[in-house]
Amino acid sequence: MVAVLENPLRVGLTQERTPEPLILVIFGASGDLTQRKLVPAIYHLRRERRLPAEMTIVGVARRDWSHDYFREQMREGVEQFSDGIGSEELWQDFSEGLYYCSGDIDNPESYQKLKAFLSELDGKRGTRGNRVFYLSVSPKFFPEAIRQLGTAQMLADAMKTRLVIEKPFGRDLGSAQSLNRVVQQVCKENQIYRIDHYLGKETVQNLLVFRFANAIFEPLWNRQFVDHVQITVAETVGVEDRAGYYETSGALRDMVQNHLMQLFCLTAMEAPNSLSADSIRTEKMKVLQATHLADLRNLEASAVRGQYSAGWMKGEPVPGYREEPGVNPNSITPTYVAMKLQVDNWRWQGVPFYLRTGKRLPKKVTEIAIQFREVPFLIFQSAAQQASPNVLTMRIQPNEGISLRFEVKTPGTDLRTRSVDMDFSYGSTFGKTSGDAYDRLLIDCMLGDQTLFTRGDEVEEAWRVVSPALTAWESPTDPASIPQYEAGTWEPTEAEQMMERDGRRWRRL
Ligand code: BG6
Repeated sequence: MVAVLENPLRVGLTQERTPEPLILVIFGASGDLTQRKLVPAIYHLRRERRLPAEMTIVGVARRDWSHDYFREQMREGVEQFSDGIGSEELWQDFSEGLYYCSGDIDNPESYQKLKAFLSELDGKRGTRGNRVFYLSVSPKFFPEAIRQLGTAQMLADAMKTRLVIEKPFGRDLGSAQSLNRVVQQVCKENQIYRIDHYLGKETVQNLLVFRFANAIFEPLWNRQFVDHVQITVAETVGVEDRAGYYETSGALRDMVQNHLMQLFCLTAMEAPNSLSADSIRTEKMKVLQATHLADLRNLEASAVRGQYSAGWMKGEPVPGYREEPGVNPNSITPTYVAMKLQVDNWRWQGVPFYLRTGKRLPKKVTEIAIQFREVPFLIFQSAAQQASPNVLTMRIQPNEGISLRFEVKTPGTDLRTRSVDMDFSYGSTFGKTSGDAYDRLLIDCMLGDQTLFTRGDEVEEAWRVVSPALTAWESPTDPASIPQYEAGTWEPTEAEQMMERDGRRWRRL
């Protein structure tokens, strides 16, 4: 149990400001994300009084919906995917600010029609030309939508307009570079919000506070004391109904290049000069520039892929990846990736960072574990076998918290040691679970705070780090050679061997 003391530290991005009245224009408004995440998040923010009453949303999609139909769909979303409508009066007020405008991504007339509609709404709702354009469409439409917004001069006012781009940002280094070129032709970097929802997670932001608001950990945070770091993002779900997308993506693109690389950056970066978006993003960029797969000449020594085969989850049989609906029976798409990264700088030289992620693993858990070096000399010879190294674990989800593992003497006349955990849990300390990542990201974007969004150069650098594996794994491969792991187990044997060669083991969570 941890006592909570008032802390005068206020992270800039947590200060409760209210955004200016604005229109959030969502492209791809008939899709899942709008109904499940975006509108429920906006409504929740409104309930929490974080948004002005003038808050207006315009959904854009191909389908020929009416404003009322759009409102009904969004109401269903809020009822199903958040903590509900609450007061009927508030919903009525909120839903009056929901509009729908049908249009085609590639049709210039649709943008003219939208532009005129937005101006009309400015008059009606008092939104003063402030706009956030949110691209929640299939990534193949990103360049076209951005170009059309540019041609229609809808992003021309850098002070009043912003553009949010959902993931994935590119499929590889080349496509990310060309998407950056397209978007940078149309707007300035300070208008661009590239989303990675992991950065919206409370515990991910807490990494910065933990590292840079405490004096006792940072002196240990380096090659002198740390043996290695393990970053795990394990999921129990399979590919679900997303085979169409996942087959073209796989775990490396879907999880490693973005979410795991962000966790890695926040763990490994140097202290930023300030909490400004650019200070933090510059430090993340610097550590990425120093990072590469540990053994570039022998890929297998530092990158392993795998695919789940049929197995059992919670006592139920589940199909293998290749048997899932919509998946090619000879698919070589990885559902599991493990990597060993090396960071060439003074702080981390020689300290491997092991990253792993997979679907259909035994447990849903995201954590960062810093394993410290063993003591230089153990005086407790008789208890030697039992002494394990200290581990600091940051649990990102679920059961968010931080724990420190250390050795103690067990009670009794024998001198025996045992590992115990000193544990901080968000739930029991603060009595509430952290909010949804989208709440945080949406309000930050409306407030113009880019700290939790990835900068253009940072996205490219993250692609560069994973590129050797991406290229090798995309070359024609005999499907029989893709390592398999049974659904409900931790990893393919090849990933265990990668660790064993280094004399280490994956954590069992
Ligand atoms: C998404 C991926 O970005 O993140 C999904 O596309 C994955 O495949 C999801 O399941 C995991 O997010 P979270 O927040 O549940 O850890």
